[in-house]
Amino acid sequence: MRMVLGIESSCDETAAALVTEDRRILAQAIASQDDCHAPYGGVVPEIAARAHVERLAPLIERVLSDAQVALTDCGAVAATAGPGLIGGVMVGLVTAKALAMASDRPLLAINHLEGHALSPRLADATLEFPYALLLVSGGHCQLLRVEGVGRYRRFATTIDDALGEAFDKTAKILGIGFPGGPAVERLAAQGNPRAVPLPRPLLGSAEPHFSFAGLKSAVLRAKDSGQHAAADIAASFQQAAIDCILDRAQRSLDAMGQVTALVVAGGVAANAGVRAALEGLAARRGLRFVAPPQALCTDNAAMIAWAGIERLAAGLPGDPLDIAARPRWPLDPQAEVVRGAGVKA
Ligand code: KG4
Ligand code: ZN
Repeated sequence: MRMVLGIESSCDETAAALVTEDRRILAQAIASQDDCHAPYGGVVPEIAARAHVERLAPLIERVLSDAQVALTDCGAVAATAGPGLIGGVMVGLVTAKALAMASDRPLLAINHLEGHALSPRLADATLEFPYALLLVSGGHCQLLRVEGVGRYRRFATTIDDALGEAFDKTAKILGIGFPGGPAVERLAAQGNPRAVPLPRPLLGSAEPHFSFAGLKSAVLRAKDSGQHAAADIAASFQQAAIDCILDRAQRSLDAMGQVTALVVAGGVAANAGVRAALEGLAARRGLRFVAPPQALCTDNAAMIAWAGIERLAAGLPGDPLDIAARPRWPLDPQAEVVRGAGVKA
């Protein structure tokens, strides 16, 4: 039975996991750094890298001992090699290189976005390629056709902010804590989604992409007006964001050709409102809807280990030990760079 050790350290979660090819997560450990970054209202890259250094090795030891396996029992050591905060990515990748060298196992340098993109197949053995994927995280907002391991076609991306970033900034504007997404979702549950008129950027536009910067500015103006309850602003923001992603998803689905399912992954896929709206869209189009369980949506190492398993199963080779970490690493290298999106992968 093939088994892979996965390591994740691209943002503010330090994580390790052992996953088998028959989709069992034998052990996993995750150390959130929320406490380190909360005072700053956002992730501070240097603090994140330092915390990864301190936390990663004990997490890996714990995972191996929980599962009662030796490193040499693993088929490979997989680690996120980008995109992400470069200091943290380097900590995980260098650790994986050392473990791979010491145990004489192949090293698999995994694209973090590929981890998110394939995570639904870890949770659901029946999900076949090609599928339509809405990948929504703190750094990314993309619609992709997932055609196979290592084969992704991007149909849309954001021209400014990622969706998770818009949730985080809304939380910051409303002063409801960090990380923002879950806080906005909790507050939105107590508000009226129609109370505050907010824009739906690019809704109905012929171009396929996303934009959330204008929505964020409108949230700021709504807050500054002093006329609205915070819960109403949160609910109205969430509704506007959902309307935008539904519109954009429909447009890309029209362009994508045949797919087996509509799938959502990435941190924002943990949002119940987002999931329900996409489920409705899939039903209207006669498509299956697949969303991984919440714990597999936000950053974790099981998805990195699983991407490693998929690569081995596809017969793809390991990576050289001198492979470099990549702060930017698009899933679809053919996709055009869109206006304003240069800061993202
Ligand atoms: O995938 P992820 O854990 O890390 C990145 O690769 O970016 O995504 C984190 C993002 C953050 O912006 C966070 O606020 C958002 O996902 N998020 C949510 C929810 N849970 C996490 N956004 C909306 N609703 C949630 N329940
Ligand atoms: Zn992520």
